[in-house]
Amino acid sequence: MGRPPQYHRPVMVDRVVSWLLPLDGGVILDATYGGGGHTEAILAALPASRVLAIDRDPDARPQRPHPRMAFHTADFRSLDELLEREGVDDLAGALFDLGVSSHQLDVGERGFSYRRQGPLDMRMGPDAGWTADEVVNRWNEEEIARIIREYGEERFARRIARAIVGARPIRDTTHLADVVAGAVPPGRRDRPHPARRTFQAIRIAVNDELAALTEGLELAVRLLRSEGRLIVISYHSLEDRIVKQRFAAGARDCICPPELPVCVCDRITELRILTRRPEIPSLSAIEDNPRARSARLRVAERI
Ligand SMILES: C[S@@+](CC[C@H](N)C(=O)[O-])C[C@H]1O[C@@H](n2cnc3c(N)ncnc32)[C@H](O)[C@@H]1O
Repeated sequence: MGRPPQYHRPVMVDRVVSWLLPLDGGVILDATYGGGGHTEAILAALPASRVLAIDRDPDARPQRPHPRMAFHTADFRSLDELLEREGVDDLAGALFDLGVSSHQLDVGERGFSYRRQGPLDMRMGPDAGWTADEVVNRWNEEEIARIIREYGEERFARRIARAIVGARPIRDTTHLADVVAGAVPPGRRDRPHPARRTFQAIRIAVNDELAALTEGLELAVRLLRSEGRLIVISYHSLEDRIVKQRFAAGARDCICPPELPVCVCDRITELRILTRRPEIPSLSAIEDNPRARSARLRVAERI
């Protein structure tokens, strides 16, 4: 589909395809197209299906889209409008492969990587509310500490936030990585880099990733047809928790207080969870593609 092979190597492709195989013929949503590796495998394995693919990053637009796919540069928060525009009533399957693509990490100018010099940007697409520069050079220390603690689950959030504010103006990604590394006590530095969690936190804040995920899942559940499947691959515990809790809430039936003699909530169970525990990549897959290391795949089916 016209993407250079190094754009991104898709994770757990065989598992994604095998969960979608029974749905051949229906429309499959790829909510996070990236380099299109999952879409390509889905189109090959489901010859009667169409794929509706979206990505908020304009770089992800395929040069030569497959005849059975439509692509939109959009946030998956606007899924319902896109389906309407495409004349699609419901989805047979939906895939969310979260986080950033290798392309986004590898291109220094995008500012995602603590390993590459680049501007403090980190926007997945131009629709993001602010840049990493605004977070790092303008937000107050409290706010910076909060996001590093909440979105980075970083023990030294307060020290790091203080160091960032004290080092302003922070010029670029390598400057930021050095300031963060210097704020962490020697001997307690995270691997592979002491700035990993801080960079993750700033990226999540810039792109409002957790709110987007919550909204995107909500829409996907609503738009799936009966027996349609929702597959989510997450890469850190904050994402996985949101997915797990949404699936569990959808799989619950009556939510009336136990003391009520009859059900008054009339709640209809929406989802059947197909993966009791998340699936993880095999050791050889991780050896082959280290970015698969933290992947967790969960599947639920619309009832
Ligand atoms: C891990 S990559 C997906 C890789 C893809 N599955 C492949 O096979 O190449 C995640 C992609 O999701 C996109 N993305 C993240 N949040 C998004 C959102 N809210 N709406 C649309 N795309 C999003 C990113 O821009 C990135 O390209």
